[in-house]
Amino acid sequence: MIGIASNTTILILTGAGISKESGLDTFRDRDGIWSRVSLEDVATPEGFRRDPERVHAFYNARRRSLISDGIAPNPAHAALARLERDWPGRIVVVTQNIDDLHERAGSRALIHMHGELLKIRCRHCNRPREWRADLDCAHVCPDCRRAGSLRPHVVWFGEMPLEMGRISEALSECGLFVSIGTSGHVYPAAGFVAEVRSHGRAHTLELNLERSEGAGLFHESRTGPASELVPAFVDELLHRQDA
Ligand code: APR
Repeated sequence: MIGIASNTTILILTGAGISKESGLDTFRDRDGIWSRVSLEDVATPEGFRRDPERVHAFYNARRRSLISDGIAPNPAHAALARLERDWPGRIVVVTQNIDDLHERAGSRALIHMHGELLKIRCRHCNRPREWRADLDCAHVCPDCRRAGSLRPHVVWFGEMPLEMGRISEALSECGLFVSIGTSGHVYPAAGFVAEVRSHGRAHTLELNLERSEGAGLFHESRTGPASELVPAFVDELLHRQDA
């Protein structure tokens, strides 16, 4: 049982594992995306400079899959939306995922630190815009009219994650930090638990299919599928508040 007051700020970090049971691949599991594609080729500014059409093809395929009929939020996404609705304190979900499954489930207090697959931006005028179609080098920016300047609105390795100011503020304010479905390999997200603990106030909990490499940094680690662990954790929090 988690012992926190009902006005506690809860910060939730999510990774690819929360969307696995919705039909989207993780990155570093045996059947993960990086077992089939080299991240240097498709997820770095250098890879995009070398072969932009290849990078576009990679994100086009992922975008098509995300908006296909079979992909929908699972009970873990729904439980986090329910927590945001029913918890009296502040909830912030920081996701490393570029899918839109948290939004589709109803989460609103959401930060996409690695960008969004259903947005693109122009490298010259820098404005993100909604985008659901395929993208290629022939596309012209609707604002500045340059061709070949549009790119996926995602953060590649070597680039600065988005909204770090708001994230730092939530890391220092929270009384409960929960990490869900992330292997803890990619910084800065992998360092959030240590940062939270350096403030000395929050309980820290990992919910993951298996103990991650950094599991020892958390006060508590629970293992199992997100679709079971997350609804159970949300029930536990909301019922202890009723009590
Ligand atoms: N429920 C809970 N956890 C799961 C499930 C599940 N059903 N399935 C897999 N997992 C766990 C795996 O055990 C693993 O620890 O989810 C984690 C996924 O780890 P990664 O594939 O490394 O994904 P993530 O941590 O989100 O990657 C971080 O790396 O390449 C980048 O930009 C990409 O945002 C991504 C970042």
